[in-house]
Amino acid sequence: YHLPPREEVRFSFDGPLGRFDEQQLQRGFQVYREVCSTCHGLGQVAFRSLRDIGYSEAEVRAIADQWPHQVPSINPDTGEAATRKAIPADHIPGPYANDTMARAANNNALPPDLSLMAKAREGGPHYIYSILTGFRNPPAGYEVPQGLHYNPYFPNLNIAMPPPLTADGQVTYAPGNPRPTVDQMAQDVSAFLMWAAEPNLTTRHAVGLPVLVFLLIATILAYLSYQNIWHGGD
Ligand code: HEM
Repeated sequence: YHLPPREEVRFSFDGPLGRFDEQQLQRGFQVYREVCSTCHGLGQVAFRSLRDIGYSEAEVRAIADQWPHQVPSINPDTGEAATRKAIPADHIPGPYANDTMARAANNNALPPDLSLMAKAREGGPHYIYSILTGFRNPPAGYEVPQGLHYNPYFPNLNIAMPPPLTADGQVTYAPGNPRPTVDQMAQDVSAFLMWAAEPNLTTRHAVGLPVLVFLLIATILAYLSYQNIWHGGD
């Protein structure tokens, strides 16, 4: 049986009043760009949305321009399919032209688009964090099929993804950030993918409590005016 997602890691956005930590989201984006984007696309997120996690317009333009993968387009002269450099309005392209190419490069497994992964799996970011830190040696006598990797947090127990985060310092963080240990990078990219899946989480949390307070006051007022207007009953 597989293990439930690890809940012992607390994210800044957990709970009804939690909010995203912008510095963490930027670190997580860096991990996504330098590690995960080799295999996974982020097709529901536009480059220009990165403005929301604190990148300037010029930075977004540079990120799109230097993205390692191109976007599909059409050659205006010949009408044939072609590719071009990304611009801020594009959605973040993955590395493969289609699923067939993706499977061909990954031992017949399909690296899923990560845009909604934090919403699609039970445990969300806790699940992603668990997968990233959950690669283990299999129990004695347990045979892992060729090309797969034992991971007790993955429902099938054997996952086609090779461990993507293997060494502390695999990604270099800007000064002033925590040390990029495997655990830290896993937390950061999981947080980033939560933002990708639900960019308005902070706003939703920030609005929720005032709305409840308002409804409570409105209810009390409604009750008091009801008593006042129908006072005495005759
Ligand atoms: C699957 C995340 C890097 C190849 C997955 C899944 C997650 C994930 C959460 C599980 C999806 C599910 O539950 O269905 C990440 C993150 C990465 C990363 C956050 C960067 C830190 C990579 C890299 C490769 C890769 C570099 C290729 C070398 C795959 C493949 C699968 C997969 C082939 C499908 C596994 C299966 O269905 O058995 N990834 N991944 N991933 N990933 Fe990654």
